[in-house]
Amino acid sequence: SAAEKGGYDYFMLKEIAEQPKAVADTLLGRINVEGALTLDDLRIPSRVLRAADKVVIVACGTAFHAGLIAKYAIEHWTRIPCEVELASEFRYRDPILNTRTLVVAISQSGETMDTLMALRHARDQGATVLAICNTNGSTIPRESDAVLYTHAGPEVAVASTKAFLTQLVACYLVALYLGQLRGTKYGDEIRAVIRELSRVSHEVERVLETMEPVRELARSLADKKTVLFLGRHVGYPVALEGALKLKELAYMHAEGFAAGELKHGPIALIEEDVPVVVVVPSPRGRSVLHDKIVSNIQEIRARGARTIVIAEEGDEAVVPYADHLIRIPVTPTLLQPLVSTVPLQVFACELATARGNEVDQPRNLAKSVTVE
Ligand code: G6P
Repeated sequence: SAAEKGGYDYFMLKEIAEQPKAVADTLLGRINVEGALTLDDLRIPSRVLRAADKVVIVACGTAFHAGLIAKYAIEHWTRIPCEVELASEFRYRDPILNTRTLVVAISQSGETMDTLMALRHARDQGATVLAICNTNGSTIPRESDAVLYTHAGPEVAVASTKAFLTQLVACYLVALYLGQLRGTKYGDEIRAVIRELSRVSHEVERVLETMEPVRELARSLADKKTVLFLGRHVGYPVALEGALKLKELAYMHAEGFAAGELKHGPIALIEEDVPVVVVVPSPRGRSVLHDKIVSNIQEIRARGARTIVIAEEGDEAVVPYADHLIRIPVTPTLLQPLVSTVPLQVFACELATARGNEVDQPRNLAKSVTVE
């Protein structure tokens, strides 16, 4: 009903708007007054977490993209090798697991069959399983050794939005907590990022306030056949997520690529007026990556692409090559997906509406896939 949608036309719009609160709620009570993480609900003995020599993340769909981003954070802050795998592929290839493996199963619903089967397989091999889940008491957390709940509230729209952002927050919490616990050389950075995390819900709010030009742009592209997405580092999974959203909602061909792979194939797809969304890493920090992506934008624009550039406030290097420029707030490099994903959600939602599609219930898709 209209009341359930809180005045929005679709649940998806409501859920996109709820993201600042979802992010804040997922952090609530998990950062103490000294600015350290206290994950009391993470009921895995510290001795097990300290001994872990490998992290394996399993998930499906949008949750898998959260896992891809988590890998960058986990390896950087904890120095523990981390693999990410589609749950549907995982158990069929005889993965190497033992009592020192920490498996993280990410699932909004907690009922996705592929993810459940993957975690059962991992536990059979002696691994410790941590679930990141949005649904209290669902099957995946019940069958895991521990659970870190995301507090996005119920997500009704089939295409995941606020659950995704909170999955990212939970993944950052796990990475930072493990880093904190294991005392890596990144102690100062970890403390600084925890402070930034507690501000990030305001940044998401600010992004939401500036989305009208993104909606306008989406409407102007409603008759396009294809949209390409490019990203690098954590922007690469964001590109994959932007493409997935467009497929799910707008029923358009869309593909996400690692920007560095452009010359190994995707550049052949660039022709006059093809929209290409580019997620630009911060010019601070890993500035090499920033410079490389700027030359990618130059390259594709020279071949006639319509460049839609998502870049940090104050990043002036991209301006000459952007047909459309979408600004996002300055954030630490690894946290950028929390703000860069939001315009892509709005973009897909608006494009779907412009094409007359059912936003909350896209054809052929289910909110929770409980069969293999
Ligand atoms: C379905 C949904 C997706 C979701 C995926 C994983 O395909 O349509 O939006 O990302 O399942 O769901 P989960 O509940 O495990 O996060």
